[in-house]
Amino acid sequence: MIRSRIVGTGSYLPEKVLTNEELEKIVDTTDEWILTRTGIRERRITANGEASSTLATNAARRALDMAGVSPEELDIIVVGTVTPDMFFPSVGCLVQDALGAKKAVAFDLSAGCSGFVYGLSVADNFLKNGQYKKALVVGTENLSKVTDYQDRGTCVLLGDGSGAVVLVAEEGHQGILSTHLHSDGSYKDLLFQPGGGSRVPPTYESIDERLHYLKMDGNKLFKIAVKSLEDVVLEAIAHNNIKDSDIDLLIPHQANLRIIQAIAKRLNLPEEKVFVNIHKYGNTSSASIPIALDEANRAGRIQEDNLLLLNAFGAGLTWGSALVRW
Ligand code: UT7
Repeated sequence: MIRSRIVGTGSYLPEKVLTNEELEKIVDTTDEWILTRTGIRERRITANGEASSTLATNAARRALDMAGVSPEELDIIVVGTVTPDMFFPSVGCLVQDALGAKKAVAFDLSAGCSGFVYGLSVADNFLKNGQYKKALVVGTENLSKVTDYQDRGTCVLLGDGSGAVVLVAEEGHQGILSTHLHSDGSYKDLLFQPGGGSRVPPTYESIDERLHYLKMDGNKLFKIAVKSLEDVVLEAIAHNNIKDSDIDLLIPHQANLRIIQAIAKRLNLPEEKVFVNIHKYGNTSSASIPIALDEANRAGRIQEDNLLLLNAFGAGLTWGSALVRW
């Protein structure tokens, strides 16, 4: 049976660190509130001119290096992002050009914080059906550029960064065992960027009204996130006929430490089986899972044949999982 195996991981975080203490000087918040409600201590912020494609290209190079795959070998590049450099061309095409991945088909997909898991699923299907052999999947975000630093309800949460994986189609038992994706557009108003698109094109008024910044109803999202993330994990467990205890490492979307802990508790997963790095980077949307995967991989937290479960939730709403035999 042909499966998509992850043969390289990479991540890239911008250099500038924005700490909770620095945010205390910008908005009415405290380090204590941020830490106890979210688990975040600091996040990374891009410099001016540092775009989502810049981050993505750096992360991709690291993943390709680890994989020993050259850009020319790539058949497909899928980028999950809600903060593209511009509406078009896609970040995928910009990354393709920067890498010199001449034969790869490249595109973006918009699935909020689930963008990486959606991308993994799309690439996996192309590889499994035999159309392509080598894929690059990236989650990349430049959220600081759409964050309202007057809104304490969102600005303390978000950070910038990028993560990538290289997939190859191989016969064997290792690789992506399943992906499950879900969407519910009726919750479109819980997390969105109202201005700047074709509905509310950018005008002086829309900028004055701060409509180009993302808006979030965090409290409502929290409850739906816990339920959806738990459901999608149970779905993957049932579909693959495994037990909670078979999971060696859960790599969840890093939106809130309390959400991660609630899911770990419901699945009876001990702390060491759940990867957490939200304290360093905050919520990096579609980049959070591939950054975490790369850190776990490089830290030696993943052994051959380990069973990894990735689960994501985000704007759309969207949610999904990927079960991977390493
Ligand atoms: O990435 C995927 C999508 N995102 C998520 O899944 C995020 C899910 N939501 C969350 O993580 C949490 O809901 C938040 C961290 C966003 C908020 O935590 P919460 O415990 O749900 O707080 P809340 O929104 O219910 O607000 C509680 C209080 C409010 O004050 P009052 O009305 O009780 O006086 C807020 O105004 O905390 C206040 N508050 C703050 N206080 C200090 C909100 N933000 C801050 C802040 N600093 N930064």
